[in-house]
Amino acid sequence: MKFDLIIRGGKVVTATDLMSCEIGIREGRIVAMAENLDSGNADVIDAAGRWVTPGGVDGHCHLDQPSNDGSKAADDFLTGTRSAIAGGTTTVIPFAFQFRGKSLDAAVTDYHERASGKAMADYAFHLIVTDPTPDVIEREIPEMIRNGYPSFKMYMTYNAMKLNDRQILEVLAAARENQGMAMIHAENSDCISWLTDQLEKSGKIEPRYHAASRPSPVEREATHRAITLSELVDVPILIVHVSSREAVEEIRRAQGRGLRIYAETCPQYLFLTESDLDKPGFEGAKCVCSPPPRDKANQQVIWDGLRNGTFQVFSSDHAPTRFDDPAGKKLKGENSSFRWIPNGIPGIETRMPLLFSEGVMKGRIDIHTFVSLTATNPAKIYGLHPKKGSISVGSDADLIIWDHEKLVKISNNLLHHNVDYTPYEGMEIRGWPDTVISRGEVVFANSQVLAEEGRGRFVPGNLPAAALPINRTISVI
Ligand code: URP
Ligand code: ZN
Ligand code: ZN
Repeated sequence: MKFDLIIRGGKVVTATDLMSCEIGIREGRIVAMAENLDSGNADVIDAAGRWVTPGGVDGHCHLDQPSNDGSKAADDFLTGTRSAIAGGTTTVIPFAFQFRGKSLDAAVTDYHERASGKAMADYAFHLIVTDPTPDVIEREIPEMIRNGYPSFKMYMTYNAMKLNDRQILEVLAAARENQGMAMIHAENSDCISWLTDQLEKSGKIEPRYHAASRPSPVEREATHRAITLSELVDVPILIVHVSSREAVEEIRRAQGRGLRIYAETCPQYLFLTESDLDKPGFEGAKCVCSPPPRDKANQQVIWDGLRNGTFQVFSSDHAPTRFDDPAGKKLKGENSSFRWIPNGIPGIETRMPLLFSEGVMKGRIDIHTFVSLTATNPAKIYGLHPKKGSISVGSDADLIIWDHEKLVKISNNLLHHNVDYTPYEGMEIRGWPDTVISRGEVVFANSQVLAEEGRGRFVPGNLPAAALPINRTISVI
């Protein structure tokens, strides 16, 4: 058998298995795994003593996403995927945003134009549904799911995006009918707007009050409501960016009742706290995201949830807003209310190294859980598996060879995004991808991104088995 590339000597890790084997790659795919492969004329990479894991799948990031508030995403598909690759992520799933009054088709067409010719990593799209008209529900969602876009996000907050419960039910019913995966941003909009008004009335406008305007009960209530809507329709949902003990408890209770409720968390809920919003001057704006970072006790609950299976997915929620920029965090100036600070923080490159270092290397989670959370599960839940997220014969040869000894002091200078800060500046971690391979091509080695602009390909999603109903609740559909 002929190969283009062989990875030799590594400890090959999947979501379930650890194998000492060689990986044979031809035309971008894994075609053989065995104790010894005949290298012939193939290139050989020596991975002796190193873990080899699937390339990461970042199931939640925002790249070149148009905004409603005048802010501008600092990362397009070029800089965003360049940064992703340098941190071990070989597939990204950002969001095609439906503007109200416009179709889903317009969102997807526009988003393909933004990605094509630029992306260095492979990509799929989620949709953001903001305007579920009868045509969107009856025609567009079924078409989108069939045509490779099986997942879509709904917001319970943000005026320009939020859906009411009735609208969410309509979209969930369409998801059930067509095997789509619904993602929900769960925060209670009216609570946030009332709390924001109260805080502003008493002059509390600094970035730290962003956290006070969205306390845990706001997330808990919306999480509970989203689960109720999902149960009524009998369709799975995935709750994105879960931050708090109270939301985790709702999710765990629902999972314990046998409901298919999936959950995602992100680095900011493990490594930041609300005190990061309470820095001198406007610095706290760097960590304004929603839901907000909580406290150390909540961080521990999130770690527990990663270990005990409450969470299936660990994403970056990379939202590339520059700090020192009138199109970024300083959109309305440094003295404006927290209300106007664009939400979201960067993290597409640090997602995997942070969890590898603080999770695997410190013994909080095992390497298989790491692989599940960062690659295999998002690929499965969004219909990309086994092409993505796996090391198996027939899968795309997307691989990371880890340097588990490497000590890195995180600094924005080291990162490849186009954002002017990282919330993790100065943090010291152990472990970073040594070599990253995408469809058989070495795209990162010797701390250099080697990928060509535009080499990334669109990967259409299949119908996710994870989106099937459980057929046992009170659905009338
Ligand atoms: O604050 C956040 N998470 N911003 C990004 C948009 C979103 O809600 O995912
Ligand atoms: Zn969100
Ligand atoms: Zn997001």
